[in-house]
Amino acid sequence: MSKFSTLLALLSVLPALSHAQSAVYAQCGGIGWTGDTTCVSGSVCTVLNDYYSQCLPSSATTGSTSTVASTSTVTPTSTTSVSTTTGSSTGTATSTSATSTSTAAAGNPFAGYEMYPSPLYSSEVAAAAAAMTDADLAAKAASVAQIPTFTWLDTVAKVPSLGDLLANATALQASSGQKQIVPIVVYDLPDRDCAAKASNGEFSIADGGEQDYYGYIDQIVAQIEKHPDVRVVAVIEPDSLANLVTNLSVEKCANAETTYKACVTYALNQLATVGVYMYMDAGHAGWLGWPANIQPAATLFAEMYQSANSSPFVRGLATNVANYNALQASSPDPITQGDPNYDELLYIEALGPMLSSAGFPAQFIVDQGRAGQQNLRQAWGDWCNIKGAGFGMRPTTDTPSSLIDAIVWVKPGGESDGTSNSSSPRFDSTCSLSDATQPAPEAGTWFQAYFETLVSQANPSL
Ligand code: BGC
Repeated sequence: MSKFSTLLALLSVLPALSHAQSAVYAQCGGIGWTGDTTCVSGSVCTVLNDYYSQCLPSSATTGSTSTVASTSTVTPTSTTSVSTTTGSSTGTATSTSATSTSTAAAGNPFAGYEMYPSPLYSSEVAAAAAAMTDADLAAKAASVAQIPTFTWLDTVAKVPSLGDLLANATALQASSGQKQIVPIVVYDLPDRDCAAKASNGEFSIADGGEQDYYGYIDQIVAQIEKHPDVRVVAVIEPDSLANLVTNLSVEKCANAETTYKACVTYALNQLATVGVYMYMDAGHAGWLGWPANIQPAATLFAEMYQSANSSPFVRGLATNVANYNALQASSPDPITQGDPNYDELLYIEALGPMLSSAGFPAQFIVDQGRAGQQNLRQAWGDWCNIKGAGFGMRPTTDTPSSLIDAIVWVKPGGESDGTSNSSSPRFDSTCSLSDATQPAPEAGTWFQAYFETLVSQANPSL
């Protein structure tokens, strides 16, 4: 990544200015865009896709405002040597842009890399273990701190901490010689969690949230650009696109559709400029895996991939994030009846070919962090602090399918899914169902009793 040069610095920094003026490389149009549509002298507003137009230098364009086929994708030097351990067929992709030409070796981005554990989560876990009186349980609990878990950037205030995370990972990489990959979750859409309440976020579409979101992404890009030696992998916006597949009957989701697409497009394009490997969230088998949903889902995800100009950094999809489904169920949970895709492997192997047919050669990662125990739920749609859940399979690139890059822990086990306090503005009735552990604190905050169960029910055991 030392090849990140002046050009990349420019690409990364200028978006931060993009909403005050239409400078070179700033956004100048697209569905939902309300800012300036003219560009500074020497650049032309160029349509990259329906959701994103950008001021590109006149000398770099063909003279038309609609013929530039691709945004710039920048390839970390090291990606050229990565090969997949799972027999991925994605191969090598070439992206030509108006401003640079890059070749990405789009093998498994996890291969050859060690996932850097989140210090924030590790400290939560250490404190939780220290509070346990049962010595055996406490020792098992403490071991969770070593298991790499994604860091959620669920508010803009958390973005500066990404800089520390990347600096620490860079230092470890330098001292150990072991290449580090830092896993993050991009999670701050305006009108977030449109079909539920528990994870409603800080930005509102009615109150300028789309522009706020662009600023949030710009800040993430700026942090990553400052730490080019480590690799970053990101899950993009849990639940958002899945809600657009099945929940457009919910007014808040219907209202958010255009904005979600514009924001995700922006995230994909901007994060690609700093070489982030991305997996868009694809719900889970019990959501988009149903026969009526899976093809519409494939169509939408392919559309989003294409909105990022088929960047090889948009590696694929993440499934089962914060959910409880098995990767391979030994027998179908009775609640899955009617869905032939009753576990994540079946879902992925059904969805993968549909995506390929739609032009998206997607690879997958699967969250198994809380999937150690099965047959716990009253209904497949239940998602809140499910009783009896245990930590699941450990993160690995040794997976049962060539479509799966890695088994991962995305949801930090022990952080709540939502409050059971019915007087909270973010109370979702799902969190007071009989299969939800109660009393439960607000989403994302520490839930000690729940963590203890995850530890004691871990499968494989800790
Ligand atoms: C919450 C986020 C939190 C994440 C991980 C989500 O349900 O809304 O605030 O960061 O879970 O625990």
